[in-house]
Amino acid sequence: MDSHEVQLARYPDGAIGARDFTIAPAQVPALGPGQVLVRLRRLGLNAGLANRIGGPDTAYGPGIRIGDVPASDGVVEVLESHSSEFQVGDLAVRKSPWRITDVSAAGELRRIPQQEADVPLEAHLTVLGHVGFTAYTGMMRFGGVRAEDTVYVSGAAGGVGSCAVQFAKAIGATVIGSAGSPEKVQLLRELGADTAFNHHDGTALELLRHAAPDGLDLFYDNVGGEQLEAALEMLRFSGRVVICGAASQYGKGTQRRGPANYAQMIYRQLTMRGFDVTSNEDLRPDFEADATRWLRAGKIRSVHTVIDGFDRTPEAFASLLSGGNSGRMIVSCDD
Ligand SMILES: NC(=O)c1ccc[n+]([C@@H]2O[C@H](COP(=O)([O-])OP(=O)(O)OC[C@H]3O[C@@H](n4cnc5c(N)ncnc54)[C@H](OP(=O)(O)O)[C@@H]3O)[C@@H](O)[C@H]2O)c1
Repeated sequence: MDSHEVQLARYPDGAIGARDFTIAPAQVPALGPGQVLVRLRRLGLNAGLANRIGGPDTAYGPGIRIGDVPASDGVVEVLESHSSEFQVGDLAVRKSPWRITDVSAAGELRRIPQQEADVPLEAHLTVLGHVGFTAYTGMMRFGGVRAEDTVYVSGAAGGVGSCAVQFAKAIGATVIGSAGSPEKVQLLRELGADTAFNHHDGTALELLRHAAPDGLDLFYDNVGGEQLEAALEMLRFSGRVVICGAASQYGKGTQRRGPANYAQMIYRQLTMRGFDVTSNEDLRPDFEADATRWLRAGKIRSVHTVIDGFDRTPEAFASLLSGGNSGRMIVSCDD
C-alpha cells in the first residue's frame, strides 16, 4: 500500500527549519498476524526531538540521521486489523513514525476507550496524553500536592507545565506560573494560575519574590538553572521540589548551571526529587480517571495549537522550535 512520510533531508545549518525535512513516498507492507493498519489522525510534536537530530541516541529515542523518519505520539485510527484486540474504526494512541499510513503491532497501541469518544482527539496528546501523565505523576505522586499548598511551576505554558498548572488548580492549590512571553502569561491566567509572570521581565529571584511574598510549599521544575536557584530561596521549611525537566540547560554541555545555593536544602530541610514518568505506569488508571473527570467537569482543558495537513509537519516542527505554539503543537492529518 502507498503511504508517505517525513524524512530528515539534511542536518540543519543553524536553527532547524522546514527545509531540513522532505516528504517522501513510502511503501506499507502487507499485514502479518497481530498487526493492524493505522492512519494518523493527530500528530503531537516535541521540541526535545531537536536534540536528537544528528545527535547521539538518548533515553527518549535514537539519534536522527539523514533519511530517518522521526517519531512522536499520535492518535491513529485502525483501517484494517489482523488482531483480535482491535477492530476497524478503533482509535488508539501510539508512538508514531511521521508516516501517514503505517503498520503497527497491536501491542504498541493504547486504545482510546469508547466512553471517551466525545473527547476531542487533541486531548489524548495533551491533558489525557503523555504530557498530562508526566504532569500528574510529578504533581501527585512525587509532589504530593495538597489544596493548602502554594505551588510554583516553571515552563508553565509548555506541554507538561500547562497540565501541571491545571492539575494543581483542580486539587485546589494556589498556583504561580512563569512563561516566556506576554501571550503565554495571559494563557496561564486563563488556565487558572493565581499569579503568572514573564521570566524575561527581571531576575528569577526578584520575580519569584514578588509573585510569592509568603514563600512556596512545592516547586514543579521543568526548566532548572536560574529558576531552580530562585525557588530554593523561596521554599518554606519542609518545602518540596519535583525535578521534571531542565529545559534551560539542555545542549549547554560544560556550561550547565547547577543550583549554587543547594545548601538551602539543609537549613530548611527541603526535599528534591527527580522522576522518570516511564517508571510509573501503575499510576495510569488513577491518572485517566482523575483527568477525564476534571476534563468533563470543565476544570481542565486541552491547550494546543493545531496546524492542518500532514505535509505541513516540517513547518509545524520549525514553528514549535521558534516558540510559535501555545501548549502542545499538534498536526491534524484529517485532510
Ligand atoms: N521527567 C519526565 O519523565 C519527563 C517527561 C516528559 C518531559 N520531561 C521534561 O519536562 C520538561 C517540559 O517538557 P514539555 O514537553 O512541556 O516541553 P516544552 O513544551 O518545550 O516546555 C518547556 C518550556 O521550558 C521553557 N524554557 C526553555 N528554556 C528556558 C529558560 N532558559 N528559562 C526559562 N524557561 C525556559 C520554555 O518556556 P517559555 O517559552 O515560556 O520560556 C518551554 O516552553 C522538559 O524539560 C522535558 O525534557 C520530563
